[in-house]
Amino acid sequence: MPDVLTLEGVTAGYAEAVVLSGASLALREGEALAVLGRNGVGKTTLLNTVVGVTRLFAGRITLGGRDVTRLAPEKRAAAGIGWVPQERNIFKSLTVEENLTAVARPGRWDVRRVYALFPRLQERRGNLGNQLSGGEQQMLAIARALVLNPKVLLLDEPTEGLAPIIVEELLRVLARLFREEGMAGIVVEQHAHKVLGMTDRALILDRGAIVHAADSAALKDDAATLELHLGVARKSEPRPLRAGNRT
Ligand SMILES: Nc1ncnc2c1ncn2[C@@H]1O[C@H](COP(=O)(O)OP(=O)(O)OP(=O)(O)O)[C@@H](O)[C@H]1O
Ligand SMILES: [Mg+2]
Repeated sequence: MPDVLTLEGVTAGYAEAVVLSGASLALREGEALAVLGRNGVGKTTLLNTVVGVTRLFAGRITLGGRDVTRLAPEKRAAAGIGWVPQERNIFKSLTVEENLTAVARPGRWDVRRVYALFPRLQERRGNLGNQLSGGEQQMLAIARALVLNPKVLLLDEPTEGLAPIIVEELLRVLARLFREEGMAGIVVEQHAHKVLGMTDRALILDRGAIVHAADSAALKDDAATLELHLGVARKSEPRPLRAGNRT
């Protein structure tokens, strides 16, 4: 499978500040990548840099084999970068359906298909963006990115601040997108357990640098690495009371 997105030695930030240093990654067609890391380590900056809204100091970015390093954000979007930002910017004064039809472009994902993915949005099709719950707004933000028929979908902490039942629903849809629909994507998340099951590979960021790269399945079972970089002990296995009492 060819690479759909590559970053080579990308250093980026804001104004004079370098936030992300020397990041390289390659995403193949149909592949899903988790970007993990604690608060403030540069996860959003990595996505923003792919989108083109940071200051690039060094490096190269390609999309579908084309160099997009110098391309303006709107041209990158047109070239196939679908972005669901952390703050879910939907049009609050447009209805759900208008939000979708305003941006839809011909392709596999049309309004009908995203309604099948998010039946809740179909029920709310006539409601304004500002009448939606946080979870529904997030579904709309994802749906909007999909009807642009992107080559790669970038999701920034898609379940942050949402009720547990909505989190479950969203994670199921994302798993379906990545696992069954073959969507290529990057999902940024602080909580590894939410996304390691639905992605192929994972990166861990710390202070703006990629400090660990692994298959998601392997990382899921690598309690030591998760603990070291993310400070999470494996959930499914209670820690022994004393060292050495494991069977
Ligand atoms: N617009 C900006 N201007 C200047 N510095 C910024 C800007 N946005 C973020 N930063 C700084 O860049 C660093 C990384 O921020 P970033 O938002 O990329 O982290 P993050 O991993 O996404 O964090 P979180 O988990 O809180 O979303 C932080 O130190 C932050 O203060
Ligand atoms: Mg962030």
